Amino acid sequence: KTIDWDVDAAEKGGYDHFMIKEIHEEPKTVRDTLNPRIKNDKVDIEELGMSDEEIKSISRIRIVACGSAYHTGVTAKYVFEEMARIPVEVDIASEFRYRNPILQENELVIAVSQSGETADTKEAVRMARAMGNMTLAIVNVVGSSIAREAEKVMYTWAGPEISVATTKAYSAQLIAFYLLAMKFAEVRGLLGEDEMKELIKDLKMLPEQIEMLLGNKERIQKFANRFVAAKDVFFIGRGIDYAISMEGSLKLKEISYIHSEAYAAGELKHGTISLIEEGTLVAAVATQDSVYPKTVSNIVECKTRGAFILAVTTVGNEDIEKVADYVMYIPQTNRYFTNSLAIIPLQLFGYYVSVGKGYDVDHPRNLAKSVTVE
Ligand code: G6P
Repeated sequence: KTIDWDVDAAEKGGYDHFMIKEIHEEPKTVRDTLNPRIKNDKVDIEELGMSDEEIKSISRIRIVACGSAYHTGVTAKYVFEEMARIPVEVDIASEFRYRNPILQENELVIAVSQSGETADTKEAVRMARAMGNMTLAIVNVVGSSIAREAEKVMYTWAGPEISVATTKAYSAQLIAFYLLAMKFAEVRGLLGEDEMKELIKDLKMLPEQIEMLLGNKERIQKFANRFVAAKDVFFIGRGIDYAISMEGSLKLKEISYIHSEAYAAGELKHGTISLIEEGTLVAAVATQDSVYPKTVSNIVECKTRGAFILAVTTVGNEDIEKVADYVMYIPQTNRYFTNSLAIIPLQLFGYYVSVGKGYDVDHPRNLAKSVTVE
C-alpha cells in the first residue's frame, strides 16, 4: 500500500503557494533578524567588527543591489540620511559596474542580496574592494558568493525563500538597514539613549503588527479580485512612501503581468497624470506626517481625473476616506519603520491579483529566483 504524498504540498505547509507561506513567515523573519542584535536596549552589531572610529569616518554610503533588494536600499537612503546624517547613493548593481563609478576614500559600500549569488551585485562588491573601499553585505544565504566576497557580512535570518517574488527576505533586509542606521546614528552622536529606547520599542512591536495586518488578508483579497482585469496601476508616494511604492509596484507587475509604475507623487504632473483615465487604479501610500497633506493633494489630482484611489495610510488618518475610494490602514509605528508595515498589504495585493488571474504565482514567466548571469 502506498500513501499519496506530495512533497511540494508538504513543503508549503498547508498554504496554496510558497509566496503566501513566506508572507506569513514575515513576523518570524523580522523577529529573528532583529532580536539577536538588540542587547540591553542597544543595537549590538559586534558581528561586523566595525570600530566606532570606522563608523565615524564614513563619508558616504553606497548601496548596490538588484530588484527588490535595490528597493530596500532606496528606503535605507531616506533612513540613513535623516537618522544618521550620512549621505547615501543607491545604485542598481548592473549600472554601477559598467560606468567607471567614483567612490570616495571613506565611502562604505553596502551590497544587498537575498541569494548572495546575483552576478552584478557580486561584481559590484569585487570592484569596490579592488578600489580599496570597505564593503558590507546584507545577505540571506549563509556562505553564498557575495557573503564571501564582502569584507563584512550581516545576515538576514529569513530562512530559505522559494517563491521567485521575494517577500520575507525583503522585510528582513529592511530590519538590517534600520539596525545599521541606528547604530551609526548613535556612534555619531545623533541618537540619544531615550530616542534609542523608543526606536527599539517600536521595532519590537513590528512582528505583532505584521501579524495583525495578515489577519486582514481576506479584505485585501476581496479588493484584489476587483482589479484582476486592470491594465495599468500606478503607485505613488513621497519620501519613504515612494520607496515602498516602488516595491509594491514591482510585486504586482512581476506576478500579475499588469503594467504598473511607481511615481514620486510630486512628479505626477510631469508625466503619469496624463495616463490616468476613468477607473485607473492609483495606489497612494501616505504614512509620513511631514508630507501627508502634499500626498493627499496628489490623490485629489488623480481622483479629479477619474482615478480609483486605494490609500495605504496609518491609523489616525481616517480623514483620507474623504478623498480615497478604499483605504488600507497600518498600525502606528515610528516614521522610519512604516515600510515594514505598508509592504504587507501591498504584497498581499500583488499575490491575490495573481491568484485571481489563475497564474503560477511562485514561478512567474521569464523570471528566475536568482540571476547568476549578466
Ligand atoms: C531576481 C529576483 C528578485 C530579486 C533580484 C535580486 O530578479 O526575481 O526577486 O530581488 O533577483 O536578487 P538577490 O538574490 O540579489 O536579492
